[in-house]
Amino acid sequence: MSEPSSARVPFLDAATGRPAAHTPVWFMRQAGRSLPEYRAVRGEGSILEAIKQPEVAAAITLQPVQRYGVDAAVLFSDIVVPAHATGFGIDVAPGTGPVAVEPLRTTSDLARLRPLEAAADIPYVIDTVRALVGQLPAEVPVLAFAGAPFTVASYLVEGRPSKTYQHTKALMHGHPAMWHAIMERLVQHSVAFVDAQLSAGARAFQLFDSWTGALSPADYREFVLPHSTAVFSQLAELHPGVPGIHFGIGCDHLLEFMLTAARGEGRSTPVLGLDWRTTITSARRRMGDDLVVQGNLDPALVLAGRQIALDATDVVLADNAGHPGHVFNLGHGVQPDTDPEVLTAVVRHVHAHTSTVSAAQAAQQ
Ligand code: CP3
Repeated sequence: MSEPSSARVPFLDAATGRPAAHTPVWFMRQAGRSLPEYRAVRGEGSILEAIKQPEVAAAITLQPVQRYGVDAAVLFSDIVVPAHATGFGIDVAPGTGPVAVEPLRTTSDLARLRPLEAAADIPYVIDTVRALVGQLPAEVPVLAFAGAPFTVASYLVEGRPSKTYQHTKALMHGHPAMWHAIMERLVQHSVAFVDAQLSAGARAFQLFDSWTGALSPADYREFVLPHSTAVFSQLAELHPGVPGIHFGIGCDHLLEFMLTAARGEGRSTPVLGLDWRTTITSARRRMGDDLVVQGNLDPALVLAGRQIALDATDVVLADNAGHPGHVFNLGHGVQPDTDPEVLTAVVRHVHAHTSTVSAAQAAQQ
């Protein structure tokens, strides 16, 4: 058998806007606390310590592929891994999220944010991806990811999860030169983190700018857009043709800018992540019928029970109207108390209702 071509990989077909055997599905936070097998393998202690053990991280990455039959294996890692691995001083507190004891507030704090050297700083990430490539079915790619510079900066500057982003916004407006210096360093982290995963065998990536929806369009354009654009354009230079998904929550007012960033100065293969607030139809009306999208089932409806989840899945599929450029996902991460059986039913439902391979053809394969 020759190297599997992307023509047989539904996730890569859809992410590049080509007709796929079925609409591919994966879930943000598919590897995690909603799975009893995750809790069994994960053990106690910081998630950042579990990530450092390639056998554990690879096993956790595989769990949702085995359980749900999803079409991509998002690496079990975290957006704060580069800052943690370079010694900034950040950890993930269970039930809270990323916490930095000494947040990034002054120019001298910036010295603690040194460049990421992947081979030396995160060899365990490289080892995990390499192990996964050998264990996954050929049609299920590893999906690399990184936090976008803004979302990572918000944790470093606030020191903990925030609802107001007051320190972050004060810094960007009060000390713009320092803000841009922070963002430039975080661009290097995002690029080096994703580059390490792609070089080890991952075949697409997602840039999580989860919290950028807190910004006005003017602030996004001035303080974020150049830096997120740099991430996509540098990655396109390093890995031409590799699809890159750009995702944020509550970003309807920023989508045109986020697509511009994901185009990486025209070099990239962009996919725009949508949450449930934006219909796929309206996104294509605004940004063009060739727009490749990911999303956007409301994760709360998955909690509401199997039939409600399947009905809501049908609404998403109808909204996409058979367009080849659609990766099915939730509009944000799986909630910890989600019933895994409902997610399995959603995957089967999407596959069954979008399959372009007849049962007779499938039986012959
Ligand atoms: O399944 C996957 O999606 C892959 C693994 C993954 C994790 N975090 C594992 C994780 C991914 C892609 C992330 C990204 C991430 N991390 C984001 C962007 C996605 C989003 O939700 O918007 C953000 C904002 C973070 C920061 C972070 N890490 C938070 C807010 C939390 C939750 C804290 C808590 O305990 O409620 C984490 C911890 C974390 N990262 C967990 C997992 C499975 C759960 C904690 C654990 O098991 O100890």
